[in-house]
Amino acid sequence: MATRFNALLEDPLRRQMWSAIRKAGPLRSISVDLTSVCNIRCDGCYFFSEGMDQAGSPDSEAVDSFIARERARGTNFVTIVGGEPSLALEGLEKLYGAFRINVATNGLRRIPRTGFEELPIGISVWGDHDTDRRLRGGGRLDVFHQGLQNYRNDERAFWYYTVSAGHAHEVDSVVRQCVENGNRVLFNFYGDLDALGGDLDHEGGFADVRKAVDRAIKAWPESILMTSGLARVVSTGRLFGERWGHATCTSITPDHLANADRIGNGKPFNPHFRAYNADLETTRRCCTGVDRGCDSCFDTWQHFSWVMLHMRKHLRSEHDFTEWLATTYLFYFINRLVDPVEGAALLPEIHRRTCREEIAQTWQTETTVGR
Ligand SMILES: C[S@@+](CC[C@H](N)C(=O)[O-])C[C@H]1O[C@@H](n2cnc3c(N)ncnc32)[C@H](O)[C@@H]1O
Repeated sequence: MATRFNALLEDPLRRQMWSAIRKAGPLRSISVDLTSVCNIRCDGCYFFSEGMDQAGSPDSEAVDSFIARERARGTNFVTIVGGEPSLALEGLEKLYGAFRINVATNGLRRIPRTGFEELPIGISVWGDHDTDRRLRGGGRLDVFHQGLQNYRNDERAFWYYTVSAGHAHEVDSVVRQCVENGNRVLFNFYGDLDALGGDLDHEGGFADVRKAVDRAIKAWPESILMTSGLARVVSTGRLFGERWGHATCTSITPDHLANADRIGNGKPFNPHFRAYNADLETTRRCCTGVDRGCDSCFDTWQHFSWVMLHMRKHLRSEHDFTEWLATTYLFYFINRLVDPVEGAALLPEIHRRTCREEIAQTWQTETTVGR
C-alpha cells in the first residue's frame, strides 16, 4: 500500500496538493447555527422546513461557554450557518477569534472587513435575478444584486450557487456576473423540500445542470471551486458503489439518538462532528436535517466530507486519486487553510486534469444515471 501511495505522489500536482493538505493538518469540524433569526425566508429553505428556527438564539455568555467547551473537545474548524450569521456579528467575531471558520450568508448585510479580515464567506444565490428574486426575495427583493454590491472584489467571498434542476440555462449568466464581480463560485443543488415542483423539482435530475457546470469550468477554470467529478457525486448521490443517504452520510452527529443505527452500520463517519442548533447546546441529526428524507439533500458541503472520508477507495487509479486530492484540496482552499496564492495558481491545472475525462464520462452516462 505504501509503495502504491508513494508512486501516486510522484506526480508533481498530486504531490503539491498532498503536502499542502498535510501541512494544514486534520480538521476536527462541527456545524453551528449562530442565530435562529433570518432577514429573508427562502422558498423551501431546509432551516424553516425542518423547524430549526425554533431553537432560540444564544446570548454572549452562551457563546463564550460554547467556545470553551468546543476548544476543550478539540474542535478546530466551524462551519457557521443559521439563520443569518451577519445578524449576529458579535458572536461571529468571537468564533472567528477561537477557530478556523467558514460562514454562509445570504449577502444582504455585508460582513465588515474589520474584525473579519480573512474570513471565508460563502454568499448564497439561487439563480439569475428573476429566479433569485422569486425564490429568496418574496418576488420583490433582488438579493443577488445586493450580494454582488456588498462583496465586489472582496477576496474573502465566494458564491455558493444553489442551482435547481430546471434552471441550467441560467448558470452561464450567473457565473459570469460573479466572476466579473471579482469572486469565485462553488455549486450547490436545490432540494425541493416544499414540493414546489415544476422547474424546482429535483426528481427531474440535474443532467443539464452538470453540463452547464462543465461548461462553466471550461470557460472560467480559474474561478470554479468544484471539480466536474464532485458536481456529479453531489447531484447523482453516487460515490463508487455507495448511494447517498442517512446510511452513508458522514456529517452526522454521532452521539445523537437519531443516529444510533447509522453509527452501528459500519460505514465511515466523522467521529468528531456535531451539528449544533442555535441554542448552542442541543444538537440535531445532521447539518440540514432533523428528520427529513436524505433523497432531497444535495448539499455540497456535506458531500465534500463524504468524498474526503473515502480516500482509500480513491487509491485504485491515478484518476480517482487525483479527483480525491483535488476535492480535498479545494475544500482547504475555499476555507483558506492552504496558501491562497498557491491555490489560485493551481486551480486551472486542477480542472484541466480532472475535467477532460470527466466531461466525456459524465455526458456518456447522463442517460443511465437516475437523478
Ligand atoms: C439555511 S442557509 C443559512 C445561511 C444564510 N442565511 C444563507 O442564506 O446562506 C444555509 C445554506 O443552505 C442552502 N439551502 C437552504 N435550503 C436549501 C435547499 N432546499 N436546497 C439546497 N440548498 C439549500 C442555502 O442556499 C445556504 O447556502
